[in-house]
Amino acid sequence: RILILDFGSQVTQLIARRVRESGTYCEIWPYTADPEAIRAWAPRGIILSGGPASVAEADAPRIPEVVFELGVPLLGICYGQQAMVHQLGGHVEGADHQEFGRADLTVTDGCRLFDGVWSPGDTPRVWMSHGDRVVAAPSGFRVVAQSEGAPCAAIADDARGYYGFQFHPEVAHTPDGADLLRAFTRSVAGCHGDWTMAAFREEAIARIREQVGDRRVICGLSGGVDSAVAAVLVHEAVGEQLTCIFVDHGLLRAGERERVTELFRHHYNIPLVNRDASDLFLDKLDGVTDPEEKRRIVGTTFIDVFEEEARALGGADFLVQGTLYPDVVESVSPKGGPQATIKSHHNVGGLPERMDLDLVEPLRELFKDEVRALGRELGLPEAMVGRHPFPGPGLAIRIPGSVSRDQCEILRAADRIYLDEIDRAGLYDEIWQAFAVLLPVKSVGVMGDARSYEFVCALRAVTSTDGMTADTYAFSHDFLSRTATRIINEVRGINRVVYDVTSKPPGTIEWE
Ligand code: XMP
Repeated sequence: RILILDFGSQVTQLIARRVRESGTYCEIWPYTADPEAIRAWAPRGIILSGGPASVAEADAPRIPEVVFELGVPLLGICYGQQAMVHQLGGHVEGADHQEFGRADLTVTDGCRLFDGVWSPGDTPRVWMSHGDRVVAAPSGFRVVAQSEGAPCAAIADDARGYYGFQFHPEVAHTPDGADLLRAFTRSVAGCHGDWTMAAFREEAIARIREQVGDRRVICGLSGGVDSAVAAVLVHEAVGEQLTCIFVDHGLLRAGERERVTELFRHHYNIPLVNRDASDLFLDKLDGVTDPEEKRRIVGTTFIDVFEEEARALGGADFLVQGTLYPDVVESVSPKGGPQATIKSHHNVGGLPERMDLDLVEPLRELFKDEVRALGRELGLPEAMVGRHPFPGPGLAIRIPGSVSRDQCEILRAADRIYLDEIDRAGLYDEIWQAFAVLLPVKSVGVMGDARSYEFVCALRAVTSTDGMTADTYAFSHDFLSRTATRIINEVRGINRVVYDVTSKPPGTIEWE
């Protein structure tokens, strides 16, 4: 396995993605990690990420000495290369012009890391993003590639297995980058490349059994991929010791409760408590218009109901959560300061303290698409594994302003038609998330020979890789008019449909 030491780059996660895609398990640790823990973890190779600092600064992050003492191959990327060079006796200087974006390299020499990827004389395209640059490699290193702005764009010491890149091999704009990272993990560090989902499944089951023993476990199902995969995995590990709880807050999409019940109770035979708490949630939301207040009400009411159901089951010792890797990486914040709260996302984070439960988080090492792969490995139906994300507060944040039961019904009907059309057009998997929003605005129309005065429905569909940024999906005009016609004809209460063409940023994906 490979350890990635993070110096605060925006793209450290991508290094992990590429390494795992090469069939090698890896983890990202902050460069401040305990040296003894690094030694004990015994990585076969270490990758040093980029970062915003400059080695010339007095308090610049340093590579812990243990990294050099372990005697394993190293790959320094951007700041990682500069720190390596600085600490091993080479020279780094502030460049008078920054190099940012595409650059053409000239491969000047061969090295083990380039074997099968680049040969001397090649001029591959890479992606650069740096201010400082290495101007003299430490002894033992050779320069193996140069660019106009970087005389030491790649340096190599084959004897020690130490390599440094000024460019970023992890980003898609470096077309051969994945091959280089694979060469590092496989040829240089000697990893076997046999880390698969099947192996992960076995390891995860063993770990859950060891953690839980013969005690009781509960899991809140949301209808989404993460909680479903976590629940099925835990059920495989400890069987009937697991009970799932599904709280219907009345703000779900059409057919959700039936879908979850069918899958868990009937298909998997997993004990499932179904609680209809829609009256409670909708009463509490009555007349509330502030988006953050709505989110807070749904979050705390959810905890109350979940707690009640867990008590009714006679208590439990563990709570399963579908926490993913991007949520837990202790990455180095370049700015160090708290970020502005755009929205307070709702999950069941408040539960463990209130209920004195220990957490079982079997997915905390995985990325979203790896969770999907694990779901497939566990035999979950494709329709569940490939589902679009759905927010915890549900339809409450898709009806701007106050929320009523009637509005939820109208929105559910429109949303169902929209997704049905997307399915029929075979577009579901091309889209990160698609949903309808019910605007609390009425407009005038003419239906038959009569005047209508009904709500406006906005359709939203975005593409994204992680939900952090998003582009609107470019439906054909035909698709949009067909869907709009169906919604207006089939849903009482809507007489106008609009399409939201705002990207994120400046918009967010949800409307509230
Ligand atoms: P925004 O609207 O912030 O959404 O651009 C980004 C992604 O997060 C989802 N989302 C949530 N997911 N609880 C969740 O589990 C929440 O409270 C929540 N709010 C937004 C949103 O659907 C999108 O995928």
